[in-house]
Amino acid sequence: MEKVKLETKNVSVQFENKKIIEDISLKLCENELVCILGTSGVGKTTLFNVIAGLLNPDEGEVELNGENITGKSGKISYMLQKDLLLPFKTIIDNVSLPLIIKGAKKKDAKEESKKYFHQFGLEGTENKYPSQLSGGMRQRAALLRTYMFSSDVALLDEPFSALDAITKHKMHTWYLNIMKEIKMSTLFITHDIDEAILISDRIYILSGSPGRIIKEIKVEMDKTDKNNEEISMSEEFIEYKKEILKYLIK
Ligand SMILES: Nc1ncnc2c1ncn2[C@@H]1O[C@H](COP(=O)(O)OP(=O)(O)O)[C@@H](O)[C@H]1O
Ligand SMILES: [Mg+2]
Repeated sequence: MEKVKLETKNVSVQFENKKIIEDISLKLCENELVCILGTSGVGKTTLFNVIAGLLNPDEGEVELNGENITGKSGKISYMLQKDLLLPFKTIIDNVSLPLIIKGAKKKDAKEESKKYFHQFGLEGTENKYPSQLSGGMRQRAALLRTYMFSSDVALLDEPFSALDAITKHKMHTWYLNIMKEIKMSTLFITHDIDEAILISDRIYILSGSPGRIIKEIKVEMDKTDKNNEEISMSEEFIEYKKEILKYLIK
């Protein structure tokens, strides 16, 4: 049995007497990548805000390593949907920000975060500004900044949705590799079915109003030695896609 890192138990949220998400129970195990897949407006970001402790649910609980963390922020690395780098700060200053917020001295924070620049493919960008980097590089810098919050559980809210298809594919391969290296468990929001099938170990489909988990799908595809283009044209992939569409289009 895999070790459960993160769990939500019967989480419900309402805004102004309108239920947005209802009875959300999900699990994220160690080193797993799990996608929450749903159309826009279904309540995905709301769910993440609850898990990150930024929003108190009306019902339910959030547990990290078996400990109740409902309403407590700062326990999980969270990359917001519009997590932009500050344009007037250099990449190293942007990435060091979480450590500085936690109270580290600027010099120490920079030294610590510099260690990861190579691993995140950002070597040489330390003193550049975000506008000088490509879209993919900016997202890697934002991911490194998220990682510097130093939890081994990450919430990523549509991190690659603004990238072009080719860059997105490259980022998928890159992220799956780095996740293994840094031993990260990831809960990942997307509205992109292909992306969900390509990167996930499991997928939760969120649908309806209020948003509920209507289906859990385990993705068991042999992805070794195949590139994303090959995978996304395989029979197996198309079968997963058909099944997901059946649930999403109702
Ligand atoms: N603070 C808020 N107050 C009232 N309604 C909100 C608030 N935040 C989100 N909503 C509403 O909740 C629903 C779900 O939003 P959101 O969680 O952002 O969806 P998603 O991320 O799936 O696109 C939307 O209808 C949105 O308008
Ligand atoms: Mg959202």
